[in-house]
Amino acid sequence: MVGMAPKARTSYRCTDCGFEHPKWAGRCDSCGEWNTLVEEFLPTKKTSRRAASYDPGQVAPVRMAELVAESAPRIKTGLTEFDHVLGGGVVPGSVTIVGGEPGIGKSTLLLQCAARLQAGKEKVLYVSGEESLEQTRMRADRLEEDAADVMVLPEVRVEAILGQAEELGAKVLVVDSIQTTFSEELEGAPGNVGQVRECAGLLMMYAKRSGTAVFLIGHVTRGGVIAGPKTLEHVVDTVLYFEDETANDFRILRAVKNRFGSVDEVGIFEMTSKGLAPVSNPSAAFLAGRNADTAGSAVTVLLEGTRPVLVEVQALSSRSAYGTPQRVSTGLDNRRLAVLLAVLERRAGLPFAELDVFVNVTGGVRLIEPVSDLAVVAALWSSVRNSPLPEDAVFVGEVGLGGEVRPAGSLERRLLEAERQGFSRAFVSRGANSGAGAKSVRIANVGDLLRELSS
Ligand code: TYD
Ligand code: MG
Repeated sequence: MVGMAPKARTSYRCTDCGFEHPKWAGRCDSCGEWNTLVEEFLPTKKTSRRAASYDPGQVAPVRMAELVAESAPRIKTGLTEFDHVLGGGVVPGSVTIVGGEPGIGKSTLLLQCAARLQAGKEKVLYVSGEESLEQTRMRADRLEEDAADVMVLPEVRVEAILGQAEELGAKVLVVDSIQTTFSEELEGAPGNVGQVRECAGLLMMYAKRSGTAVFLIGHVTRGGVIAGPKTLEHVVDTVLYFEDETANDFRILRAVKNRFGSVDEVGIFEMTSKGLAPVSNPSAAFLAGRNADTAGSAVTVLLEGTRPVLVEVQALSSRSAYGTPQRVSTGLDNRRLAVLLAVLERRAGLPFAELDVFVNVTGGVRLIEPVSDLAVVAALWSSVRNSPLPEDAVFVGEVGLGGEVRPAGSLERRLLEAERQGFSRAFVSRGANSGAGAKSVRIANVGDLLRELSS
């Protein structure tokens, strides 16, 4: 091999699960997904992988007993919903990835945080690899927050970003986005799995060494995943996803991994003309505009993370003009709707075979928890009968195929929230044990519910 330049080694990595393959294949051996393998260039020399200045250096092992177990000091952004999802504020030295579809508001969210942190005298560096300085400035001008002192850097090379962060002594570093960032040490275009992983790895090492809190913005592809999501997810400390479920102004920030807080926490924001505003009373926001004396409207209590939130389920049924009646649902799985319609048809004799049925959950919320079944059933019944449901009632329970109603978890928390929002009655499973909160009306099955509602 004397005299030959070392050839860059190539491998193929699955963008879904991160599994490495020596050869290209149509299907990933590990997760079974199709068309997810992309070429990844590996560095020719092991030593060139890490820039020497970011070597973690000599670290000696320490006896467990000598370790100081400090609870991580948090920096509050003051953007309450964001602090809540992080588990109480920004943790120095942590790396957080904020994923979401383009246009959802990731840059806005992090620019707002940057402005607030800077105002609190934390040095913030906002790296914009996606947009020009003018675009970043224009966004900043719209915000309620004063971002005047935030340092902005238009840069895509990770080594240069780290150098600038170091020189500035930034306490918080925002990288917008991880997909536009690349390492000069590595072949392959920005956004390729190898590049994304390498950059995230270097940023992670920098965060741990310097105590800088790093936020990485990551685009989610149409399939709903960040490029190389699994490999990034285990590298970083916290993974947040920013979503909007329909085309309304509510945005939901979810924690799917958090080394410094609980997962499944959510923060709810509204996109306004001056940036994102935390929604501190989501129940009130989701129920705004509700017309309680219209038939087909029922309220249920979901848990968004650990927080109970009231949402409205609307149903509309009308005589079908075609042989096959339509079933259209927004915010509820169509198969779930089919099951509940079949249960109502069989157990209560409602004539759904001749009816078109439309179900909608307001506020762009998705009903994932089965405890919303009872509200869907009540709304459907109310619509068919053209008779409004009791204005002060919520419906919380899962409906089984036999029409039986099963209890919901965390019922007391849900009923307390219902009471706080002015609902005095809750239709719940007979098997449920609840104490405080809205007064419960216990039912064993769908038949019981309909009898109670008709009486
Ligand atoms: P942006 O933060 O650029 O999204 P992302 O970084 O996730 O791609 O936000 C984009 C949308 O938000 C854009 O359509 C404009 C809107 N927006 C507002 O409605 N109000 C505002 O104050 C700002 C800054 C943006
Ligand atoms: Mg952006």
